[in-house]
Parts: sequence; C-alpha cells; structure tokens
Amino acid sequence: MTATSPSTKKSYDQTAWQRGYESQPCEIAYEVTDIDGQIPQELEGTLFRNGPGLLDIGGFPIKHPFDGDGMVCAMTFKAGKAYFQNRFVRTEGFVTEQKAEKPLYRGVFGTEKPGGLLNNMFDLRLKNIANTNVIYWGDKLLALWEAAEPHRLDPGTLETKGIDYLKGILKSGDAFSAHPRIDPACIWDNGDRCLVNFAIKPGLNTTLVIYEISPSGELRRYKEHKVDGFAFIHDFIITPNYVIFFQATVSFNPLPYAFGLKGAGECVNFQADKPTRMVVIPRDPANNNVQTLEAEAGFVFHHANAFEKDNKIIVDSVCYQSIPQVQADVDYKNVDFDQLDPGQLWRFELDLERQKVTRELLDTRCCEFPVVHPDYVGRDYRYAYIGATHSQTGNAPLQALWKLDVKTGESQLYSFAPDGFAGEPIFVPNSCGEAEDDGWVLLMTYDAARHGSDVGIFDARNIEQGAIATVHIKQHIPYGLHGSWTPKTFVSF
Ligand code: FE2
Repeated sequence: MTATSPSTKKSYDQTAWQRGYESQPCEIAYEVTDIDGQIPQELEGTLFRNGPGLLDIGGFPIKHPFDGDGMVCAMTFKAGKAYFQNRFVRTEGFVTEQKAEKPLYRGVFGTEKPGGLLNNMFDLRLKNIANTNVIYWGDKLLALWEAAEPHRLDPGTLETKGIDYLKGILKSGDAFSAHPRIDPACIWDNGDRCLVNFAIKPGLNTTLVIYEISPSGELRRYKEHKVDGFAFIHDFIITPNYVIFFQATVSFNPLPYAFGLKGAGECVNFQADKPTRMVVIPRDPANNNVQTLEAEAGFVFHHANAFEKDNKIIVDSVCYQSIPQVQADVDYKNVDFDQLDPGQLWRFELDLERQKVTRELLDTRCCEFPVVHPDYVGRDYRYAYIGATHSQTGNAPLQALWKLDVKTGESQLYSFAPDGFAGEPIFVPNSCGEAEDDGWVLLMTYDAARHGSDVGIFDARNIEQGAIATVHIKQHIPYGLHGSWTPKTFVSF
C-alpha cells in the first residue's frame, strides 16, 4: 500500500469498506511470521484492543456495530517477534446467545430479538457486551463497556474470569465508563500514576460519578455531581486539578424503547441549537466548587487532551456540528458518508475567571480516535495522533494515520487508501527517548484487498514514510473501538 494524493474522487469503495464489518468467529493464538520490515528490538509489550467481533448472532444481523459482542485482540512484541491472539469476552449474554444461536437480548443501538414487537416490548434488560475498551490496570486486564461493570480477562490467554468489582469499588449494576484517563503524575498521590474514570447514573437528573484509582487498584478519591437533565456522555478529560465533562443538549424519549420499537440509543436526539454545558469539577477532595460554562460546541464523542494555562483550561476535542444520529431505517453498512458532518479537531478555551468559552478549529480534516503521549495526558502538549480520512475535507471512512502538531498546525499523514481502513492509533513511548514524539505509533488496519487485518508500527517522528514494520494477521478483525498498551508481556503459547 502506498500513499496517494488527495483528489475529488472517492478514496474508498463502499463494498470494500463493508467487508470490514463481517463477523469474525475464529479465535486464534500464534506467532506471526508474515511481517514486512523489522520490528524494533526495543519495542516490547502488549497492544490490547477491543471491538465488536460478531456482527450477527446465529445468522441474525445486529442492527449496529455498537451492539456487537466484545472481542479482545492482543498483539505482543518481544525480542523483535510478534504474537497475536483474539478471543471473545464470555459475557453472560454472549454465552447464552451462542448456545441458543439467536439474539436473546435487545441491543442498546436497535438490535431486536426475533419474534417481532411482542417479543421485544418491555424487555429493558441490558446486555453487558464488554466491547468498547480494554485496559491493564491494578494487575488486571479489564474489558470495558460504559453502561455496566468491567469483565476481567486472563492477560495471557484472554480467557474471561468474570465480572470484576474492582476490590469492592463497584457494586452489582454499577457502570464504569470505557474511557478511563491515566494521570501520569498525580499531584494528590505524590506523583504516582492514577486512573481516573467516570460513570453516568441516569435519571431525570443525571449523576456524574468520578473514581480515582491507584496503580494497585485501591480507590483514592470518589466524587458525585448532579447535573440537570439527561446526559449522553461517552468520554471526559482530565488535567492535574480538574475533570471536565461536555454535556451536549440531548433529549431522550424512552417510549419507543419501552414499546420495543427502537433501541435506547435510537431514542437520543441531539439538539444542535442548544448550547453544550462544560462541567468543570475539581479533583481536590476538599474543593467542591464545580463550575459550569456554556458554549456552542456541537457534539463530542472523544477528547484529545486538556491542560491548564493561567486560569484557563484548554480542551482539544473531535467535534461534530450534529451528532451522527443512529437512524432506525438505515442499514449502518449503507451509510452515506457524504451526508454526515465531519468530526473535526477543535480547541476550546475555558476561561474560569470570566466564565467564557472561546473555540477555534484546528484543522478541517475529518478525524476520530485522537491520542497523545501518555506522559502528556492533562499537560500542555504538542502532538496528537489520530485516525483520519484520506481527503482533507468531507466525511468518509478513516483511512489514514494523521499526526498533528497542535502548536504549529503542521501535520503528517500516511494514507492506506484505497483498500486500507484505519482505527484508533496507540502511541508507545521509547523508554530511552526524551522528545514528545520519540516512540512508535501502533495502528490496526483492515486491508480489503486481502480481507485481512494488519498492525503497523510507525516511527512517530516520521509518519509520512509509512510503517517501519507491518504485521499481517492471518484473518480479518472487524473494525474496532479502543485499546491500550502495556510494557508487560504475557504470551503463554
Ligand atoms: Fe470511545
């Protein structure tokens, strides 16, 4: 695959893109030998990644990929070699549905059980599908889904050990979001790392719950804060002193959900003409001075980073003018990308003194899944690594790896068009390096030309040259969501 120059012609073929959404029922574990280039000897650790592995249940198609059963992949690099395995999270729903060979639960994003309306109405059970992220923290590998508890996996075999209550931090039925942030040097914990995560307790008013957890898995701090109205919040962002939530104005009409006509996610309506509330909560346990600022912001799924500067908080986020609404009558595979607003990286400046927010578009390119160097989470930073479209304007599937210098606006891009499709990059620092971009960017891509997936290893300083090594997995992995890196290795085969 080579970089191609942007043009007005479509950079992708929709049928080729659709094949990346075929189910992958096969679980494999092997040393990968089909490798282009050289894996750096210094790159040692494990890339974990989660996403929907099945797009059908016993031949019944699911309505939206977000309803797909979580399948975790692990790509381990050790002594210049690569080891791959993938395994489904054995959630209660996955196990019972695979046995029954049909959907037994309704999906949040519209998947229905067979049997029509009568078999779906008033069934409000949630299926914890464990499909959104996977992290290694507190000596546990945890598969995350934002509306329910984590599942613990064996990091060596990916075998499911069961629901995990995080040493009693969670109770049965508690949510734990799929977007934890790791503070690299927590000022409240003598500079130790600290995992900060949130949960949403829904209701007429919404409660935002904030957990701060030590590297050994102990609860360090806990806060709750009530906000008015319904909140559809997928991600948040931290600085040394604050956690920040963007609460877009959305309405939720539960009746079509209750009556079996729509999934819960299809009943959320974004109100583009209403402001976004930016809720700034101090992390200091003794400070409960929560500030709420308002701004025109569109809808944000993912934030790139945030930092404090003077009495301001800078937040960089991928923002849509209107939410890519889950449409009940459109097959997700036939989505018309040209009709969707692009997600673009914006910078918001929250002036806490004046209670004002200003915003600036950092670049017009459509992008998603931004990440930064882990030591710069919550700190003033320079580089964001993002999945991006091949073309500079408009919406399209992600096909490129994009590095943006948020200080200068300069960027580097490597495109996998026309046959390659990208997801979330992961930045791995070079432990011997000092520069912010001294490290590697790992990116899983789907290559429609061979109906298989690859993991590319990029030198973060030089994205444009393409991957320095590409590991070809012998099967395809459906488009995924989020993942993480740990310098530990656990290969047991
Ligand atoms: Fe996400």
